[in-house]
Amino acid sequence: MEDLVSMGLVRSIGISNYDIFLTRDCLAYSKVKPAVNQIETHPYFQREDLVKFCQKHKISVTAHTPLGGAAANVEWFDSVSCLDDPVLKGVAEKYKKTVAQIVLRWGIQRNTVVIPKSSLLKRLQENFDVFDFELTKGDMELIKGVDRKHRTNQPGSKLWGIDLYA
Ligand SMILES: NC(=O)c1ccc[n+]([C@@H]2O[C@H](COP(=O)([O-])OP(=O)(O)OC[C@H]3O[C@@H](n4cnc5c(N)ncnc54)[C@H](OP(=O)(O)O)[C@@H]3O)[C@@H](O)[C@H]2O)c1
Repeated sequence: MEDLVSMGLVRSIGISNYDIFLTRDCLAYSKVKPAVNQIETHPYFQREDLVKFCQKHKISVTAHTPLGGAAANVEWFDSVSCLDDPVLKGVAEKYKKTVAQIVLRWGIQRNTVVIPKSSLLKRLQENFDVFDFELTKGDMELIKGVDRKHRTNQPGSKLWGIDLYA
């Protein structure tokens, strides 16, 4: 990938799902610094240390699964997604927005790039409609408190039907 940059074929390269250890390692040997680290982060998996570490090193953080993946891997939340969180619901009521919009706005205000996915046009529009309000510092702090330090993406958790995390 670094060769592609020096050949002028791509402008920027990045990493994905690198934790602090791997990112630090990458920074130690890379000739072209990664422009971005795409990681899972949402209110239930905030990863503040990793986000701050990347930002300190001028690596943009892209939040994949920014809504907590909703229906994805719900067993990890006992069928509760962060879109059903009572604290987030309270904040949503205050701003007259949906919980998804609050979650995305929170992601933007912590300087991460959010890439929600929806198969519904109505929700795609809803997910764009997050630029006409700003969460207060107090509400940002409130949302900090809902962190469960719990990853929803467990792509390798059911390898050949075996639950690796059981
Ligand atoms: N780099 C990686 O390893 C990695 C891993 C996972 C995902 N990703 C990327 O991250 C992006 C998003 O990932 P994701 O789809 O897993 O997670 P997500 O965007 O957090 O969640 C998508 C789910 O949320 C629902 N949703 C979307 N907008 C909503 C809204 N306004 N209200 C209620 N529900 C809403 C969607 O349902 P509907 O379709 O019914 O609206 C879908 O079930 C994708 O581009 C994906 O490729 C990258």
